[in-house]
Amino acid sequence: MSELTPQTDRAQWKSRFGFILAAAGSAVGLGNIWKFPYITGQNGGGLFVLIYLACIVLIGLPIMMAEIMIGRAGQRQPVGAFESIHGRKTAWSGIGWMGVVAGFIILSFYIVVAGWSMDYTLKSIVNFTKPIESKAATEAEVYIATTSISDMKLFLVNKETDRQLHPRKTLLESRLTKSQKENYERFRTAIEKAEDQDQARLRLLKDEELKSSVEAVEKVEQQVAKARLEIAGSVQTKINSLSATDLLAQVKLSKRRDLVFEKMTGTFVNLLTNGWHSLMWAALFMMVAIGVVAGGVAAGIERACRFLMPTLIALIGMMVLYGAFQPGFGAAVSFVFSPDPSRLKASGVLEALGHAFFTLSLGMGAMMTYGSYQSSKTGLLQESVMITLLDTAIALLACLMIFPITFSYGQEPTAGPGLVFMSMPLAFAEIGRTGMLLSMAFFGLLFFAALTSAISLLEVVASYLIDQKNWSRAKAAVTTGLLTLVVAVPTAFSSDSTSVLSNWEGDYGLNFFDTMDHLASNWMLPLGGLFIAIYAGWVMPRRLQEAEVEDMPAWIFQVWLVLVRVVAPALVIIVLMQKVGIFDI
Ligand code: PHE
Ligand code: NA
Repeated sequence: MSELTPQTDRAQWKSRFGFILAAAGSAVGLGNIWKFPYITGQNGGGLFVLIYLACIVLIGLPIMMAEIMIGRAGQRQPVGAFESIHGRKTAWSGIGWMGVVAGFIILSFYIVVAGWSMDYTLKSIVNFTKPIESKAATEAEVYIATTSISDMKLFLVNKETDRQLHPRKTLLESRLTKSQKENYERFRTAIEKAEDQDQARLRLLKDEELKSSVEAVEKVEQQVAKARLEIAGSVQTKINSLSATDLLAQVKLSKRRDLVFEKMTGTFVNLLTNGWHSLMWAALFMMVAIGVVAGGVAAGIERACRFLMPTLIALIGMMVLYGAFQPGFGAAVSFVFSPDPSRLKASGVLEALGHAFFTLSLGMGAMMTYGSYQSSKTGLLQESVMITLLDTAIALLACLMIFPITFSYGQEPTAGPGLVFMSMPLAFAEIGRTGMLLSMAFFGLLFFAALTSAISLLEVVASYLIDQKNWSRAKAAVTTGLLTLVVAVPTAFSSDSTSVLSNWEGDYGLNFFDTMDHLASNWMLPLGGLFIAIYAGWVMPRRLQEAEVEDMPAWIFQVWLVLVRVVAPALVIIVLMQKVGIFDI
């Protein structure tokens, strides 16, 4: 193979803007809207978000530039790019191989979640044609007919107090660690069993660790109780002053909310525990992705992203605005933005690092592959900054969209992978019938965001077969896609209680689905990124490197060099080693 002869027949983006759109399409996906909010919730918000942002700036952005640089210089996908640059086989192609494997693993769970978004799009259409209204009305009428006015008032006071208390309560409780809660549970059971409870209490509290846990929990309980009293007072005054018609209207609304909550949360559990159902949607999603990849890079990918990206941002913006008027908005903002060390879990740092790679599509060659369809030698910095900013903005907006709803509608931020699928429908249902149109648009857009990311994952593997093995595009896309589907089977069944896999627990007690995600996102991508940084900083021929950065201010190039040579590799190594347990910090 001759060194650096441009393959004239190789696919190219139509314009620089086209490249940015496609790369942003790869970056912006389930990682932003599904994964980032739920891991932020699990890791206590605030500080986790800050660490994630630091990873994006210090590690993500420089490695994004490195990947695009290598792709543009090599004009091949990650396995071929290094060979093409050096004009011979080289061990650096191992980065490409690891990328191909990581791509398979990521795709295998990515398509399952993308399938859920399709299912939810369809459900929104069904709910639009068959609104929940009539069932809610019947339930409310039965309740009203059988309940006295004073009982109804009591019911409403309790409901409304809980509703307003929930955001503050959740925020306060999120400060407690798991071990504090467990210690407290142990303490309570021990006391309940004891004959002389006061004495048992004194005896148990001699243990310093237990004592501090109990104090922490009891302090939170006191704060919650105090908040409840304040809220209940004002709620009671409000309810007592309602006219009879308004009172009945409130009862109806409250009954409707209960019904919606039950229905919407139940929907996700049903989906999660029905492996065949999940698999069917994943397969359908895969077919669409195969179709786009088979159709070629420029035609399908560029055109779709041009329209969908702005629509997505507009819709998220609208829902953020909606959230701003909900009772839990303040608590949500404080959860996401105020760094509180006591809320960060130990695994949070690795998770933040891994997610920085995942969300920017780095560490497995996707950006390299997309860069290889670009022949331009300018604009590397601007392109990378644009893609990174867009991706980060959408992730933060997604949190500002979801958490006000999570906090306002009685859900927990720690809900896990179901978070977006359980929270957003509650808000859409509250809005009523128009809400179902919004829901359709939202999950439809989530599907498209997932699609533009999934095709970049598929493209890495497919382009290897096309470039190196001379396969036709269609054959490469179909083979890769079907293979992925096979790998997706265990993922789809990982929470199905009828399958053997529901008992499968790997690392840290995660199920198969979570294990695949952890393996690829938190280990393979950072490792891949580490090697890419080292290659771009230390190994890549200077003359090729300089050709890619000619239009970049010299000092920025120097900063970038320090970041890829030292800072990014050092940070990745420290986080990974700490996780392996090489040193205690
Ligand atoms: N960046 C995508 C997202 O955030 C996922 C992805 C990872 C795509 C790796 C390509 C490569 O959803
Ligand atoms: Na992303």
